[in-house]
Amino acid sequence: MADMDTETITHTEPMAEEEEPLFSNLDLFLFSLIVGLHVDDILLICVQGKNIIVFYGSQTGTGEEFANRLSKDAQRYGMKGMAADPEEYEMGELSRLSEIKNSLAIFCMATYGEGDPTDNAQDFYDWLQENDDEDLSGLNYTVFALGNKTYEHYNAMGKYVDKRLEELGAKRIFDIGLGDDDGNLEEDFISWREQFWPAICEHFGVEASGDESSIRQYELKEHTDINMNKVYTGEIGRLKSFEVQKPPFDSKNPFLAPVTVNRRLNKAGDRHLMHLELDITGSKIRYESGDHVAVFPTNDSVLVNKLGQILGVDLDVVISLNNLDDESNKKHPFPCPTTYRTALTHYLDITHPPRTNVLYELAQYASDPKDQENMRKMASSAPEGKALYQSWVLDATRNILAVLEDMPTLKPPIDHLCELLPRLQARYYSIASSSKIHPNSIHICAVVVEYNTKTGRVNKGVATNWLKNKLVTDNGHKSTVPMYIRKSQFRLPFKATNPVIMIGPGTGIAPFMGFIQERAWLKQQGKEVGETVMYFGCRHKNEDYLYQEELEEAEKNGVLTQLNVAFSRDQEQKMYVQHLLKKHKEDLWKLINSDNAHIYVCGDAKNMAKDVQTTFHEIAEEIGGMVRTQATDYIKKLMTKGRYSQDVWS
Ligand SMILES: Cc1cc2nc3c(=O)[nH]c(=O)nc-3n(C[C@H](O)[C@H](O)[C@H](O)COP(=O)(O)OP(=O)(O)OC[C@H]3O[C@@H](n4cnc5c(N)ncnc54)[C@H](O)[C@@H]3O)c2cc1C
Ligand SMILES: Cc1cc2nc3c(=O)[nH]c(=O)nc-3n(C[C@H](O)[C@H](O)[C@H](O)COP(=O)(O)O)c2cc1C
Repeated sequence: MADMDTETITHTEPMAEEEEPLFSNLDLFLFSLIVGLHVDDILLICVQGKNIIVFYGSQTGTGEEFANRLSKDAQRYGMKGMAADPEEYEMGELSRLSEIKNSLAIFCMATYGEGDPTDNAQDFYDWLQENDDEDLSGLNYTVFALGNKTYEHYNAMGKYVDKRLEELGAKRIFDIGLGDDDGNLEEDFISWREQFWPAICEHFGVEASGDESSIRQYELKEHTDINMNKVYTGEIGRLKSFEVQKPPFDSKNPFLAPVTVNRRLNKAGDRHLMHLELDITGSKIRYESGDHVAVFPTNDSVLVNKLGQILGVDLDVVISLNNLDDESNKKHPFPCPTTYRTALTHYLDITHPPRTNVLYELAQYASDPKDQENMRKMASSAPEGKALYQSWVLDATRNILAVLEDMPTLKPPIDHLCELLPRLQARYYSIASSSKIHPNSIHICAVVVEYNTKTGRVNKGVATNWLKNKLVTDNGHKSTVPMYIRKSQFRLPFKATNPVIMIGPGTGIAPFMGFIQERAWLKQQGKEVGETVMYFGCRHKNEDYLYQEELEEAEKNGVLTQLNVAFSRDQEQKMYVQHLLKKHKEDLWKLINSDNAHIYVCGDAKNMAKDVQTTFHEIAEEIGGMVRTQATDYIKKLMTKGRYSQDVWS
């Protein structure tokens, strides 16, 4: 965790007197160039001359949420903050921020892929890399990095931004915070933030007494007489975009793909593994094997109705939540006008355990002082508060409904709750088909998430349960899924003659179904195709051997030159893919070291991907005659060369 950098703080100039105009017209003009706003807007952004801009690199919303929280905090400390998506701003003008007195840029940066930036931070990352001559001297900054320790390149993006800004002359005024999503990201963030604000206040010469009261960002407007054609019904972008679909389709304009196949893959067992096919005919959507499909799910109507009941509201009221800051470029927290039902069904995350800021803001609506105290305590960084949040919320996996049920005196107004809940995120799936064989169809292989909680409830994964219930026809209509494609780096070798070693237990088989189809197609075209080796793993041969027929067929017709399956529970000793790799160490070493094989790993990031990588280190040691450091360097080099690729999630 970052410590306050007292060295740098004591060297800074105190803040100018509040009455003094801090910004010349030039400043305002320059700033308007940076953020693409009109000069008049800037006056509102820069209340009292303190100016905190929180840029976020975020794929699944956490970085964005933290940025919003920090910009809201700024208000508590008498400053004015704004969260900003780097994709929407001319980041090449970043240096000019330094021309504004007492400005601070905060970067909340998540890491994705294999140490890569998020999609919305890609251009900013490229710009940082390409511009060695950029002079950022005078720019004040700090970074909070969001990552996960189970990944090889832990917080690579946040660390890079932190280092690179310094190299380009910017001034770090508070140490980087490292958030670990494998541990407790929320706790990492609040601990960092708690040290960050006093340091910033000292830096700017303002009193470090944050206003503890709740601050509303949006005001409620109920529409009693509205043309229903103007009301959002779940569209992600443009109003009526689900009725009149217009390409190109992307994250802001998803395509409604009809579901043409939805079948259970496992023959037995209490889990539900499924294969779905989405029809993209006429959409002009193109994909490659190895890409991801993103789907926008909807929440379970049972949960939505229960929330309506417990809050005692009519969910079908049409409302807008309008930003109180007229000049903000984010007018609403989700598409408005809409109904509470639509917001809770399509736009808001109601199933993940609420973050501490939600509990903090809702505490005022608990009539029992003890509940109030506990909710505020959980949002503090005091050890007792952290422990309570960990056990009562995280370990018990209480969602917002469970919190409301288990704190009966807590009765928040629904509009405030809707303001506070994070946005429901798209879910990614590794495409399980090849466009060479299925140009108009995208296949998904997924496992339904369902688990019992410590409070005796059953929690259900949003997207997988929604997908499971997507019947091919629903009351005579085609069931559809809002989707778009996210390009990936997970690609077959350019030369078909290169051998490939694919390791994908469980649903990790998904992209390899696409790879196998593609290698079969290449063969059909008369191309010479190198060795194609598959390692799959599941519990029991007769239970969850996914795509058994297709895999055995591919082996029979020579597309798969080897099919190795580890059935983990069919014998006394557990058998996993890494055990089979170890067994075949000589052959594998030859393929890798002499024949230029490409290795692909897909599935669980937390255990499997690590164990597989360790196994390759061991093989390099045992057969390649290397010591451990050489072996790890060897595998790292394969990764850099694009010969060891991972498509993993936790
Ligand atoms: C790049 C990428 C590719 C992916 N490819 C695939 C794929 O091909 N196939 C596939 O099936 N999935 C894939 N996933 C995962 C997928 O995106 C979803 O995360 C997954 O399907 C669960 O979504 P959900 O909405 O059903 O569950 P959610 O509602 O998001 O719930 C999942 C969350 O529930 C919690 N949880 C789950 N089990 C437990 C438990 N036992 N105890 C406590 N908490 C628990 C965890 O916090 C977990 O994150 C991929 C993910 C990424 C990022
Ligand atoms: C597919 C995938 C790849 C990831 N790759 C990395 C990585 O290389 N390094 C890292 O530290 N974290 C990695 N993470 C973890 C995320 O950075 C972390 O969960 C973060 O909180 C996400 O923030 P966001 O919700 O703002 O996108 C990865 C997560 C996923 C799902």
